Amino acid sequence: MPFRCGHGFLRLSEDAQAALVEGARDSEPVRGLTHGFYKYPARFSPAFVRAAIQTFTTPGDLVLDPHVGGGTTLVEARAAGREAIGVDISTLAEFVSNVKCTVYSDQELDTLQAWSKKVAERVHIHRGAAQSNRYAELGYYKHLDHPSRWRLRKAVEQALASAISLGTPRLEAFGRCVVLRTAQWALDGRVKLPTIEEFRTFLGETAEKMVLGARELRAAVKQSGRQQLTVLRRSAAGLEGDFRLRGMRAPRLVVTSPPYPGVHVLYHRWQVDGRKETPFPFMIANALDGAGLSYYTMGDRKHPGLRTYFDNIHATMSSVAALCDSDTVIVQMVAFSDPSWQLPRYIETMEEAGLREMKLPAVRGESDGRLWRKVPSRRWYSEQRGNIPSSQEVVLFHRKQRNVRRPSEASLEESGTKAR
Ligand SMILES: C[S@@+](CC[C@H](N)C(=O)[O-])C[C@H]1O[C@@H](n2cnc3c(N)ncnc32)[C@H](O)[C@@H]1O
Repeated sequence: MPFRCGHGFLRLSEDAQAALVEGARDSEPVRGLTHGFYKYPARFSPAFVRAAIQTFTTPGDLVLDPHVGGGTTLVEARAAGREAIGVDISTLAEFVSNVKCTVYSDQELDTLQAWSKKVAERVHIHRGAAQSNRYAELGYYKHLDHPSRWRLRKAVEQALASAISLGTPRLEAFGRCVVLRTAQWALDGRVKLPTIEEFRTFLGETAEKMVLGARELRAAVKQSGRQQLTVLRRSAAGLEGDFRLRGMRAPRLVVTSPPYPGVHVLYHRWQVDGRKETPFPFMIANALDGAGLSYYTMGDRKHPGLRTYFDNIHATMSSVAALCDSDTVIVQMVAFSDPSWQLPRYIETMEEAGLREMKLPAVRGESDGRLWRKVPSRRWYSEQRGNIPSSQEVVLFHRKQRNVRRPSEASLEESGTKAR
């Protein structure tokens, strides 16, 4: 193991610390494996997760991400031959994580490759398109009827029909994800919308690139050995009582990025025509939504002292603590709208949840022993486009406090669950 713990410090080998610092500060465009399948807001740099997995786990170990979002942790864990569990309350996160982690067979990949060369032809503005009545009635086409957008909406529907015609749930999910990524590029936050010809080109190229990504994942899994992977759509709060995790061993590593205090990222909507929000991505993923912004961000940032936020993060992190043992390392990437009071409050909340902070000795350029990174150009807010100039993310390391115990099998059985 390239690390030891003691006196509130994580002592890493020089190489391991350098890899973590470099990974945390990585600002290269995300590429490789299936990471490009969807641009999940506020996603991890894969290099950071890879470094954490290499430093704190060995093959076959269990990695947990209780706020898994677009599944960066799961993809890296899967490629590295680690068992992984990802949890998120969002059906969109569940969809994206599942597609990104599916190991398609060679035969399936050949089918998808053939489809990728033809899918663009299915988009034709003078041909008809079927709208999903169920989703239309539920309002998932909101803001897409405008004269400047109906063509793109039609193109999406035609591409989706082609994805559905792939004929199996696994292939259809891949096809839907291709359409999801293409529609995100075409609609979300665009000032100038692409032409149908540009949409077709992007669609075909994206499909081909995604097949290559899926092949890369398959090759990596073949080399590292396939381990179990689980995606749970639920809140991380109360996770220790979930019957699907009965008998689960303690994870060696928890790596996660929860919603950020005071920073509202729009995880569940796209913005069209300026700031008009649409739930369209859920329709493409064939996933129902039905929740508002504060559900995904753990509370309204206007609540005094962010009380709801801190109550929620206390609940999810208490459950994380309940699943860990004293050897588990918990690594988080968190951003703050105002670190001066939110960071101490966050650390306090972790302590109340049973997690004790560990610092890194001598991170170059940092006086507080924490690993900070400047956030590259990102859109944080729904209300406020552009960057918050001072926004920074920090990497926090924790371990479980000794006096907090894992639920024993007996107590799990008492609460109605049994060993797996
Ligand atoms: C910053 S994002 C995670 C991004 C992820 N690291 C990635 O690379 O894509 C935070 C996620 O937390 C999820 N979330 C919010 N409340 C949650 C809860 N109570 N339990 C589990 N997930 C939650 C949101 O839906 C969102 O997907």
